[in-house]
Amino acid sequence: MKAVLVNEFGPIGNARYTEVAAPLPGNDDLLIEVRASEANYPDLLVMEGKYQIKPPLPFSPGKAAAGIVTAAGANVEGFAIGSRVAAQVEYGAYAEQLIVPHRSAFRLPEAMPFDVAAALGLVYQTSYFALVHRASFKPGDSVLVLGASGGVGSAAVQLAKAMGASVVIGGVLGAENMQVATALGCDHVVDLAAADLRDGLREAVYGVTSGKGCDVVIDPVGGEANAAALRGLAWCGRMVIIGFASGNIPTIKTNYLLVKNIAVAGLQWSDYRERDPEGVRVAQQKIFQLWEEGKLKPHISKKLPLARFEEALEDLRHSRVQGKVILEP
Ligand SMILES: NC(=O)c1ccc[n+]([C@@H]2O[C@H](COP(=O)([O-])OP(=O)(O)OC[C@H]3O[C@@H](n4cnc5c(N)ncnc54)[C@H](OP(=O)(O)O)[C@@H]3O)[C@@H](O)[C@H]2O)c1
Repeated sequence: MKAVLVNEFGPIGNARYTEVAAPLPGNDDLLIEVRASEANYPDLLVMEGKYQIKPPLPFSPGKAAAGIVTAAGANVEGFAIGSRVAAQVEYGAYAEQLIVPHRSAFRLPEAMPFDVAAALGLVYQTSYFALVHRASFKPGDSVLVLGASGGVGSAAVQLAKAMGASVVIGGVLGAENMQVATALGCDHVVDLAAADLRDGLREAVYGVTSGKGCDVVIDPVGGEANAAALRGLAWCGRMVIIGFASGNIPTIKTNYLLVKNIAVAGLQWSDYRERDPEGVRVAQQKIFQLWEEGKLKPHISKKLPLARFEEALEDLRHSRVQGKVILEP
């Protein structure tokens, strides 16, 4: 089969789209013929050896895919040859075939296309866990999402709206992204490139929350936007740290936490895949259900053949992507 192969950590240009041996499923595994893979920003970090989890070399990157079951191990129940599934893995999804433990595979709703299923993978799981498990989100909460036109951010906007947020404020860079965030469902949009961000973001948030501040901040961006967002939180507000797309890891001033009883939580979603597979299954069912109800519509801005993985990843690196890029073998 063909796959993207990383032989050593380093520039992604060193990876090759090449012929590799077809994988064999173990007793608890499914073998999937991949129809669509989700390209994610962390794939870049994994390939460059900068991610917290380093796969054994050589490996194929890619954390989420959708496709058709072509073989199943002896202990697998609930899947048949031909089942259409989505799969969550630590790596391996940039390939024509993928081995996935059956507990990390989810049957697709009948009408769901493969590209949509792949796009509802890592970023929706991450945003669901950020909102529900780390931010204790409840209907009626107001939510500020930073990087609202990006992968994680666009998923967080849609999930917060779908799960009953009173107001969703999107923080984005520039006019074009403001339009995207509005189309995704943001009630209000703030330009994070504004000169007076430190005060301006708080004023914008206070302006649409009756002076109260927002209950939840979802932050995949870090940097100056994080410090500004912290000031926009309400009494007993919750902030979830997901990533540092700005390239800047912020230092949080703890006096803000004390003064307003604020809680700041980190999220490393892949831990849940290993430690709480049932929680991940529940989340995926909820995400699929919301899609079936028409409440989620992943923003797929580009689809490329898998062989053009480098283009997809460079687009992600250089902020040329809104929503998701999907790779198709
Ligand atoms: N913790 C976890 O479990 C987990 C899971 C998935 C992802 N992540 C991390 O989350 C982060 C985002 O991932 P993603 O897939 O959403 O990436 P993405 O699709 O590239 O989106 C990043 C977003 O951040 C915005 N941004 C970049 N620099 C900014 C700045 N200086 N100020 C304000 N906004 C800025 C981008 O806007 P422009 O497009 O305009 O530049 C874009 O909207 C990455 O660091 C990734 O590693 C963590």
